[in-house]
Amino acid sequence: MVFQMSRLAARVSLSKSVGFISGTENRWPSHLNFISRLAHRSFHALCSEGRGSASIKALPSRGVLRKAGRWEKVSTASKSLHWQSGGAVKPLRSGMVVLGAVGVSAALLASLRTSTLHAMSARPGLNLDSENSDWKEAKNKLCSMDKEKRREMYRVDFIPLEKIPVWSPSGDSCKPQYQVNEELNKKISLFTGDITKLEIDSIANAANKTLLGGGGVDGAIHRGAGPLLKKECATLNSCETGEAKITGAYGLPAKYVIHTVGPIVHDSVGEREEQALRNCYYNCLHTATKNHLRTVAFPCISTGVYGYPPEQAVEVALRTVREYLEQNHEKLDRVIFCVFLKSDKELYETMLSAYFPRGSPPKSKL
Ligand code: APR
Repeated sequence: MVFQMSRLAARVSLSKSVGFISGTENRWPSHLNFISRLAHRSFHALCSEGRGSASIKALPSRGVLRKAGRWEKVSTASKSLHWQSGGAVKPLRSGMVVLGAVGVSAALLASLRTSTLHAMSARPGLNLDSENSDWKEAKNKLCSMDKEKRREMYRVDFIPLEKIPVWSPSGDSCKPQYQVNEELNKKISLFTGDITKLEIDSIANAANKTLLGGGGVDGAIHRGAGPLLKKECATLNSCETGEAKITGAYGLPAKYVIHTVGPIVHDSVGEREEQALRNCYYNCLHTATKNHLRTVAFPCISTGVYGYPPEQAVEVALRTVREYLEQNHEKLDRVIFCVFLKSDKELYETMLSAYFPRGSPPKSKL
């Protein structure tokens, strides 16, 4: 299919470059225009790469082009074709040039990933890869889609909620700091991996004040979401440390991104930094429930570039989530702690048993 498209597109491109299809460009499906422009540019680029420049003045023979689903005869006046290579200008047998051009464009276009073509054809009027798209329109369309349709829009692989188990203690445990509450325990997960893949209501982003992207998890989220995320973020007028602001998630499997800015720790953690980190978790949870979102995942906020010691951050994260759930457990179905590093996984495995202790298994009666 790709080869057919590319050959057709190459012919379209050649035809268009010689003024061949007059007044029909606006009737071409936009993605076909895109492909034909690409073929056109790539052919000329290839020709001008030290292979001499090619100016195709006219197709020498009658061409037949597929247009919008029907075959149509298109005729052309025959004109000479000239291949300028270095200083020499030699008339070439036109058929050879056309075949060469089609071959070149086809080869280049055949390298277009099938998935790209598929994705383009699968996105009815919704291009999440282009910063020229209208973010509000895209956000509204995505919100109105059912899951199956939305899955065609994802720009990354996804992990459905049902594949994310509720946390259960596996290794060392800590002295419990709270009463056993099985209702709350059922709402907690520990996931090791990439937060951008989680197909849930919302993921928290460890952003910076500009909200315009960066490295770490912030960079991963923006890359996965695509350019429209930054466009929406730019309308939010930045974000203060400890605050939380919500946007669409665009090409991500999550429905929303809740951006928060963690504290930067230079030497040691003081009351100000601890309170700011607590505010991050609290405000993300509050933003989720205020928007009627039932699931939320957190990365280890501030523990990367911002330098918050992970063994101190984990206590702030777990305590804040525990206390929020005690007051609002009916508003949330799942809070997922998403760790990326093995060291964080081990830390959470140990500390979760202190903040979400399990009851001892019932003693067997035997
Ligand atoms: N999924 C989940 N967690 C991730 C991912 C990912 N794809 N990528 C990184 N992480 C983890 C890191 O391993 C770290 O544990 O996220 C945690 C937070 O690290 P940072 O992303 O560096 O965030 P932070 O420390 O809060 O610094 C924020 O860094 O990326 C910039 O723009 C961001 O300026 C801001 C600053």
